[in-house]
Amino acid sequence: MNLQKQLEFVITDFCNLNCSLCSQGIPLQKEKKLISLEDLERMAKFIKPFEFQHIKISGGEPTMHPQFSQICGCLRKLFPAYNYYLATNGFMLEKFVNDVKIFDVIILSEYPGRNEKLFEKSVALNLPNLIAQKKEEYKEILDVYEEKNLNETNIYNRCPYAETMKVVQNRIYPCCNLFGQALRQNIPLDKISVVFDENWRENITKLDVDVFCKRCFVKVPSRAQSFIQKSRKKTVSWLIKKNPALANKCNRWIKNLRQKIKNG
Ligand SMILES: C[S@@+](CC[C@H](N)C(=O)[O-])C[C@H]1O[C@@H](n2cnc3c(N)ncnc32)[C@H](O)[C@@H]1O
Ligand code: SF4
Ligand code: SF4
Repeated sequence: MNLQKQLEFVITDFCNLNCSLCSQGIPLQKEKKLISLEDLERMAKFIKPFEFQHIKISGGEPTMHPQFSQICGCLRKLFPAYNYYLATNGFMLEKFVNDVKIFDVIILSEYPGRNEKLFEKSVALNLPNLIAQKKEEYKEILDVYEEKNLNETNIYNRCPYAETMKVVQNRIYPCCNLFGQALRQNIPLDKISVVFDENWRENITKLDVDVFCKRCFVKVPSRAQSFIQKSRKKTVSWLIKKNPALANKCNRWIKNLRQKIKNG
């Protein structure tokens, strides 16, 4: 049985940018840790083949990992899954154009005022598996600690982010934003995550994370789907203006992927 749809590995706890909105809490992270290739090889024993539908590599900025190329080279063998994703701000994408061919989707984010030039340079690489997203919407992220937002509670089991489990350092988290939540709210890590070892499945069911979910700062549940839609529409219309050929390629690619998923 698939417990969750996606498993995300945060391979770097550091980044070339310092976005205040960062769901991973990069500006608050003091330690520059990483998950090494050797760690991944060890962790591969804790996951059954196809236990997760998708495997995602992220960070911090994953392209800054000193073993990024080697990780790309053995990811599919280590973690058999249906699809592989990479989240990046494009920092060193140019250097790794051949390595990143292994990903079904590269999610390239532009954070307004932070990495526009890099973003354009990365889009110009014309990688067929790249989806470029401008994250203007992130400016609207609600701070649930503000009085006026108190009714905007998030509902854990309806939140699409709850479909992603996340590995940071040597622990596994039941959602991809709880680690960042912990940094912002001084939540002890053992309340929201368990050690990633052979017993993680049993241990993770004992966590009660709903209370932290309700105070989540990221833009979630009911609006999340429309957010993704909105962001895709904006990206496509932006791409059509900038690079119509690539926009067409992306659209075709999305259609093919949808068909692939529908056909199982
Ligand atoms: C933390 S980033 C790490 C990868 C890379 N540095 C980047 O920014 O794309 C992983 C994913 O989380 C998204 N993200 C960052 N901050 C977010 C937030 N506050 N709410 C929702 N998603 C967020 C990013 O756009 C990215 O796709
Ligand atoms: S680029 Fe990504 S990881 Fe880096 S600070 Fe911004 S959102 Fe966080
Ligand atoms: S509401 Fe926040 S903490 Fe809860 S599952 Fe969604 S993203 Fe994670």
